[in-house]
Amino acid sequence: MATTTAAILTPPTSSLPTHQGLRVSTRSGLRWNNIQRKCLRKAGSAQITAKLELKPPPYQLDALEPHMSRETLEYHWGKHHRAYVDNLNKQIAGTELDEMTLEDVILSTYNKGNLLPPFNNAAQAWNHEFFWESMKPGGGGQPSGELLRLIERDFGSFEEFVKEFKAAAATQFGSGWAWLTYKGNTLDVGNAENPCPSEKDKKLVVVKSPNSVNPLVWNHYPLLTVDVWEVTISVRS
Ligand SMILES: [Fe+2]
Repeated sequence: MATTTAAILTPPTSSLPTHQGLRVSTRSGLRWNNIQRKCLRKAGSAQITAKLELKPPPYQLDALEPHMSRETLEYHWGKHHRAYVDNLNKQIAGTELDEMTLEDVILSTYNKGNLLPPFNNAAQAWNHEFFWESMKPGGGGQPSGELLRLIERDFGSFEEFVKEFKAAAATQFGSGWAWLTYKGNTLDVGNAENPCPSEKDKKLVVVKSPNSVNPLVWNHYPLLTVDVWEVTISVRS
């Protein structure tokens, strides 16, 4: 999974986060808070409920072939991703989480690693949308501009970054995610149980996370991700 996907992963080409906070633009056209919320007003009632919507990948479902088949997208996005969104909507309906952004639901329910029930669905909904945004038809290759400069500063070279990223994905035991992130200042963040504060903050790093865990909870800014699953999601043998 990680090997074939690497050919179409597309590192961001624009700018890195310029301020603290979650809602920053990391690549053109992508904002972290871009999960669409739809307000539904029930007839005859003043009650308004927010509803997270399943956003389709920004390309046709067969556009990533031969690296990722239409069947894989139909299954992975159309069933798995959809189930995370649907289940989360059921879990948060009528609760205080219903009024929050998806990112705030993730941070609130991470609960310093003692996960509250909606965390897995919330984080997986975010992770998968970001994963689809991390790829494009004909993507891959070396970025340019500030990102390339920082990759060379923090990894030595683009080739070394790719090597480290692939190694992270290949060594993630079981299910999880490999990420390129900008490691923010984690010193005073309530959820920053792991990794520990470091002199090496404020740089690009490759990290991996187990299951649904999202580096947002460590105050990292995700820039690129790949989904790692112990049982390949490809339906094509
Ligand atoms: Fe997945």
